[in-house]
Amino acid sequence: GMKKKEANVLVVGLDNSGKTTILNYLKPEECKSHDIVPTVGFSVEKFANSSLQFTAFDMSGQGRYRNLWEHYYRECHGIIFVVDSSDKLRMVVAKDELDQLLSHQDIKNRRIPILFFANKMDLRDSVSSVKCSSLMGLELIRDKAWHICASNAMTGEGLHEGVEWLTDQIK
Ligand code: GTP
Ligand code: MG
Repeated sequence: GMKKKEANVLVVGLDNSGKTTILNYLKPEECKSHDIVPTVGFSVEKFANSSLQFTAFDMSGQGRYRNLWEHYYRECHGIIFVVDSSDKLRMVVAKDELDQLLSHQDIKNRRIPILFFANKMDLRDSVSSVKCSSLMGLELIRDKAWHICASNAMTGEGLHEGVEWLTDQIK
């Protein structure tokens, strides 16, 4: 058959937001890990859906590694930005990282879709995706296609909807 089109996605967001857990859910069964630990630096993960073969750069969100993110901006076709929707205190930090990303040379003036996951929707003090998008200032993003989905990386809820949106933007 036809070889699927390949897409590079950069997966960013603060530490503990659930990036690795989300990718682990999306990966094929035989590639899943059973215990997920905080990412050191970054790792490269592969997953696919019916139309695209994704190579995901799973970046560490820890402060000391966030300077690595920008090195992958240029080669990515889409961005997944994961927010812990139960961590209102650090949402200002997440917003600050997003603002830096959006103003970067290799991102601004480029047509690059950004998918947000308002992750950990299962936790009691999580905010809705609408509230999350207002706390993150997403309505102010005018020059990029973006979309936000509430998600639970433990059960997979919301993940496919998000990936389908991203696929439609890239394919
Ligand atoms: P770094 O690699 O340090 O940047 O973190 P990360 O964003 O990759 O987070 P990771 O996937 O390691 O998840 C952090 C913790 O959150 C783990 O204990 C996960 O089990 C938990 N977690 C991830 N997603 C969810 C979710 O949707 N709901 C709940 N309740 N816990 C989650
Ligand atoms: Mg990780």
